[in-house]
Amino acid sequence: MLTDNFGRKFYYLRLSITDVCNFRCSYCLPNGYECEHDRKFLTLPEITRLASAFSAMGTEKIRITGGEPSLRKDLPEIIAACKQTPGIKRVAITSNGYKLPEHLSSWIDAGIDAINISIDSLDPRQFHAITGHDKLQHILKGVDMAVAAGIDVKINTVLMREYNGYDIASYLAWLKDTPVTLRFIELMQTGDNQEFFDAQHVQGSRIKQNLILDGWLPVINDKAAGPAQEFYHPDYVGKIGLIMPYSKDFCNSCNRLRVSSLGKLHLCLFTEAGLSLKDYLQTDDVEPLKSAISAMMTDKKQTHFLHEKLTGATKNLAMLGG
Ligand code: 5AD
Ligand code: SF4
Repeated sequence: MLTDNFGRKFYYLRLSITDVCNFRCSYCLPNGYECEHDRKFLTLPEITRLASAFSAMGTEKIRITGGEPSLRKDLPEIIAACKQTPGIKRVAITSNGYKLPEHLSSWIDAGIDAINISIDSLDPRQFHAITGHDKLQHILKGVDMAVAAGIDVKINTVLMREYNGYDIASYLAWLKDTPVTLRFIELMQTGDNQEFFDAQHVQGSRIKQNLILDGWLPVINDKAAGPAQEFYHPDYVGKIGLIMPYSKDFCNSCNRLRVSSLGKLHLCLFTEAGLSLKDYLQTDDVEPLKSAISAMMTDKKQTHFLHEKLTGATKNLAMLGG
């Protein structure tokens, strides 16, 4: 089992397969994706080997992220390769959902268990202003289709003062009869978004207090759930989660490792640099790969250093998929 110096166990791999994104979220890629150099993203055989090595060391869940993962044509093959790896029980994807209605059936056929879709506003004009795309209704249609197909659906909403920081009423109304888990994510500072962060960051703790006052109750989560605090309410079919990376002890429940689309292991979202696994991914013998990953684990730090405004080498989360 992959364990770090602080006794944390890593059941969960977040695997980025591209850092290209077609959206321009204000906090992430406000000017759109800018290709800096010739990117060689992980290939399907490399991904298959990574999945085997991680599952042999106790990983049970893989989340495929980007950038926007569906910009890769071989996404269904990647989902299937992860799902078919012995020991991997759950395969999930995080997507902006821009073509969710079109893509959904191919993901389901490939064996997807869960999808996370980013929806930072339920107001079409605000959604457009945040992402640069007038796609809200289309994405919501895809969400309904996924729910109807029995897929576990989570919605990610980044809290921003200007857009949704003070008004969660529209989300609550939606959750009355939409069986999804909506997670409010506190805006995180990255290398590129400092000014935006200073203007827009709001804490999730006030939302949490209001939920508790309104009768929302904490969900007891299993070990693979990670750092979201989730709540349910007898009058709502949807659930609410809060991800508060600036809260005390946030990193104690860290259960995930990340591999970038360039094949680097990132021990935290906010480390200085990734540790390249590329050389170990070139043969089907995964033993050297496993040893390399195990050896790298001793470098994992107890927490991130966001409180000191140290964002590591993370310029934006499109680099690593959040
Ligand atoms: N702070 C918080 N969440 C972010 N995301 C991207 N950048 C940030 C940031 N700076 C979110 C996206 C997506 C998830 C993978 O991460 O909105 O839902
Ligand atoms: Fe938005 Fe995600 Fe694309 Fe960043 S990677 S611009 S958060 S959709």
